[in-house]
Amino acid sequence: MARATSALLLALLAVTIAVRGQKPAAPSNQQAPPPLLLGSAWYPEQWPEERWEADLTLMEKAHLHLVRVGEFAWSTLEPSEGKFDLDWLERAVNLAGQHGIYTVLGTPTATPPAWLTEKYPEVLRVDENGHRDEHGNRLQYNWSSPKYRALSREIVRELAVRFGRNPYVIGWQIDNEISQTSTDDGTRQQFQDWLRRRYGTLTALNARWTTAYWSETYTDWSQIPIPKHGGVDSGNPGLLLSWREFISDTWRSYLLNQTDVIRPIADSRQFMTTNTMGFFQYYDHYVTESVLDLAAWDDYMPDGKIDPVFNGMAHDLARGFKHKNFWVMETQPGFVNWSNVNVPLRPGDERALVWHDIAHGADAVNFWQWRSALNGQEQYHGTLIGPDGTPVPLYPEVQQIGKELEQLGPVLADTHVVSEVALLHSYESRWAIEWQPQSVKFDPIQEMARYYAPLRRSVESVDIVSPEADLSRYKLVIAPALNVITAKVAENLIAYVKAGGNLVLTPRSGMKDEDNSLRVERQPGPLSALLGGRVEQFYALAAPVVVDGDMLHTDASIWAEELSVSSPETKVILRYGKSNGWLDGKPAVISRRIGRGSITYVGTVFDETAMRTLTGWLLAQSHVTVAPLLVPDGVEASTRVGKDRMVHILVNFADKEVTVHLPSTMKDEMYTGHNVQQIVLPVSGVAVLSEPR
Ligand code: GLA
Repeated sequence: MARATSALLLALLAVTIAVRGQKPAAPSNQQAPPPLLLGSAWYPEQWPEERWEADLTLMEKAHLHLVRVGEFAWSTLEPSEGKFDLDWLERAVNLAGQHGIYTVLGTPTATPPAWLTEKYPEVLRVDENGHRDEHGNRLQYNWSSPKYRALSREIVRELAVRFGRNPYVIGWQIDNEISQTSTDDGTRQQFQDWLRRRYGTLTALNARWTTAYWSETYTDWSQIPIPKHGGVDSGNPGLLLSWREFISDTWRSYLLNQTDVIRPIADSRQFMTTNTMGFFQYYDHYVTESVLDLAAWDDYMPDGKIDPVFNGMAHDLARGFKHKNFWVMETQPGFVNWSNVNVPLRPGDERALVWHDIAHGADAVNFWQWRSALNGQEQYHGTLIGPDGTPVPLYPEVQQIGKELEQLGPVLADTHVVSEVALLHSYESRWAIEWQPQSVKFDPIQEMARYYAPLRRSVESVDIVSPEADLSRYKLVIAPALNVITAKVAENLIAYVKAGGNLVLTPRSGMKDEDNSLRVERQPGPLSALLGGRVEQFYALAAPVVVDGDMLHTDASIWAEELSVSSPETKVILRYGKSNGWLDGKPAVISRRIGRGSITYVGTVFDETAMRTLTGWLLAQSHVTVAPLLVPDGVEASTRVGKDRMVHILVNFADKEVTVHLPSTMKDEMYTGHNVQQIVLPVSGVAVLSEPR
């Protein structure tokens, strides 16, 4: 459609909305999609239209009810500037709808067409070596470019006018795996303006970044560089942190650039999301997710192995972005194509994977992709049908999963994950440790996993949230390696403990402030007074050290902090034994009760066995309800809670069949519909059990 016609339609729509004074309501012919959705990325633009019916029939036979389309189709949707062709996409969406398949529409801005970057080369990103990107791959655009944003608005507006009230379109994915940045002059200027807004004066910036160090003092905003290369010498820590924060804010405004166009046109039923990449860390997702409605992420395991701990943590991270159920927007059918050895999931593991997703709060799981493009960069990636258009060996397993999701959708509808325990996840802290690791063996995500694994086993659900989140709902909050504690976070944590919460800090906590500057108080900085103790010195360890106390006798490794107590109310829970000389006999874990709450500092890194004991102690002293469903090793149990029922999902990741004895009679929702006292799970087996609440 020509731009003029579309603009007229938009104007008419805007008048209608203004007259009614509200967003358009959902169309009356809209049927709610099923509560649990299985689907696939589908690229109708890559195939003759005569083929679509066969594809959609095969999807329907696999009980798929979802497709994501359009996210790379810009050159087909706008073949030349201002000449739009959306008719084919509308036909594809409507045809899918007739097969009971709902659509998430991807905005196509991850792949600008050749005519666009040829005419406006300034929208191409410039990498860290000063090279401007070229056409032919994806994500070649500059996320801060005003021209790129203007061009994006045009195509997105066309899509919104056409699909904003389409009954089959249930949501929008903005762009695709946003991630790349640019170091061009325009971006640098924006960054300098951003710094001026943040710091006000160069005097303040110079002081807060300690630029007297290495003669970095700036006398003009235009002198401030974009930090380019990694490593210890990569730049002043304040500059590095500001640059990542600028990146995050710029991604936020990048998303808003599109959602601000879509929202006033689309009816209220259509959600806004983008697909993230787990623990990807180059921007702060709490900043970007704040402008979206639904968290969605892309879940891949190139070695073909499902790691329930790391995969579970990534789900829980996504759930924490919006504090509600999330989507898996992409997952592999069998295998990927981008690692060194792209091993397939074992037979049965695709099903285990999907149920693991749902167990952690996913309401939709979408495969990438339906069928390989015959040409294009990803010819080897796993699919559901082959290049010949017929099912691959995995297809029957997907059919089974689809059938189960249809069957169990009503059981899991309106159920959510409810946790008494939270882990705090801080991008600033991860960045600060990444830039000055001190020991490459200390990995903040591993540190999180050390707590997550035993806690998740004991309580069947753990939230992962921002340190700025409302913590009042949690009995126990653990802040692994919270290296950067801003004034706002300190206030939040202190208020939490004073209101009766139980806070646990782990090594490297409270060392730095909002500028990534060292705090003038010893760790944990603003929490030291509340703790009644502090860190005297930190040490990276080459060899293990002994830790001793009533609770346990064990080795600790990687990192150890010598703690001290300054209040009679602060108890030494564990001490270092004979170790590296500096630590001998010094406190390793200290804890103070404060009213009904407590604050604990764990100064070192424990192994798996010790962590089970330590977390058991933490759970007990926080009065957390321990899950009644005790499952054998290798089985993961999760609970989703509804108004009148609890639904337990068990997945067997062990390499042998197991029998799970249930603490009470539960209804076997998946296989027999009968009440059971125990359930046998084969390798990769799944059970869904319910009980009244
Ligand atoms: C990412 C992308 C997809 C596809 C898959 C392949 O998640 O979003 O377009 O490239 O990887 O694994």
